[in-house]
Amino acid sequence: MYKDDIMKKLIIEGGRELSGSVRIGGAKNSAVALIPATILTKGKCVIRNVPDISDVKILLEMMHELGSKITYKDEILTVDNKNVENVAISEEYASKIRASYYFMGALLGKFHHAEMSCPGGCVIGSRPIDFHIDAFKRMGAHIVENGGNYKMDAAELQGRDIFFDFPSVGATINVMFAAVLAKGKTRIINAAREPEIANVASFLNSMGARIMGAGSGTIEIDGVKELGNGEVDVIPDRIEAGTYLIIGALLGRDFKITDIVEEHIYSLISKLKDAGCNLKVEGDVITINKTKNLKAVNIKTTVYPGFPTDLGQPMSTFLTQCEGESSFEETIYENRLRHIPHLNNMGADIKAFDKTALIRGRTPLVGRKVKATDLRAGASMLVAGMIADGTTIVYNIEHLLRGYEKIVDKLNNVGANIRLIDE
Ligand code: UD1
Repeated sequence: MYKDDIMKKLIIEGGRELSGSVRIGGAKNSAVALIPATILTKGKCVIRNVPDISDVKILLEMMHELGSKITYKDEILTVDNKNVENVAISEEYASKIRASYYFMGALLGKFHHAEMSCPGGCVIGSRPIDFHIDAFKRMGAHIVENGGNYKMDAAELQGRDIFFDFPSVGATINVMFAAVLAKGKTRIINAAREPEIANVASFLNSMGARIMGAGSGTIEIDGVKELGNGEVDVIPDRIEAGTYLIIGALLGRDFKITDIVEEHIYSLISKLKDAGCNLKVEGDVITINKTKNLKAVNIKTTVYPGFPTDLGQPMSTFLTQCEGESSFEETIYENRLRHIPHLNNMGADIKAFDKTALIRGRTPLVGRKVKATDLRAGASMLVAGMIADGTTIVYNIEHLLRGYEKIVDKLNNVGANIRLIDE
């Protein structure tokens, strides 16, 4: 069993002003793809700015199971996969994180054979992997699914044109994995444009892959025979940055968030400005102050560069503090509103219909016992607890720790009063 697999809770004393600075770590959604990407080469890899989060720890254990030699110190990961063997990924691991699907593309691309069960991850909708599977088949893989277990084999993988009905982040990266060592050219049409895609492509290109256009809607990959040493810096986590920005807008006093990329979080910055927030961007630092008289704004989550689905839930807590009626519409997943009853329990006035929530503000929040139903719901509850009057206890906070590096320390260092307790 993964050793952090234990129930945890947060105890938050609300209403503390935050000042000082918080440094944003490497992006979870890049790191969880960059680590399996190393399987594609026998060369040595160096990945810098790797966040210390539980999803990364689980992936490192999975790599260890495959025979990978890894060191991880001061956020620098070195990987030597000379002795990696293609063993089946156990269900115990695969079911823990969504990103385990990247082992499919990486193992198939490298060994032409992969065996694993369905990936896990947050329960925020049905989250199928049909785009991944269809693309692998199109490239020549024979895939048998039996009760959620996949067995994939390919005599050889052939570059193809792959069109996605929807620009899926995971499927785009997985096809890149399958294509870098395939025969001929692969084109991904309607590819996802999230910044993590370009980060992964630049890592593979540093190994000698030939990927062009990553970050745009069409990606071209010319297959090469083998890959060599690789290196990369994980880009800053735009969702972590956005979460601190939301917290700063409610509790900051000359609160600085460093190591951000403005372009990556422009959708949020724009909405916070519309709500009347007082923030200033200077290079890779944002300074933000608590603003009185915030105005209602409407949020609609969508693919990059639109408003990210992963920030919708923490943003919904912010909207409870805006005057008037705001709306929060989720367009990517079916179940992104499971945190709403918990916010209402704390005093919010939110009506949820299907995938839309109408939020009437401003409502003071009060400390209660609530639950983190998934990773980003955990962020929503954390923000709520920090602005609430009194003490909030957030159960199942292990979800939050999957994606936010040292979050309790980072917040306490700037004035918060939060305790993390193992149940
Ligand atoms: C990734 C992120 C997640 C983020 C999401 C959208 C990782 C590990 N996770 O998840 O944090 O919320 O992007 O930005 O990077 N879909 C299908 N069939 C497929 C694949 C996807 O129907 O084969 C649908 C999904 O159900 C969803 C939409 O496409 O409705 C987007 O999914 P996708 O971009 O693939 O998200 P993930 O890779 O799961």
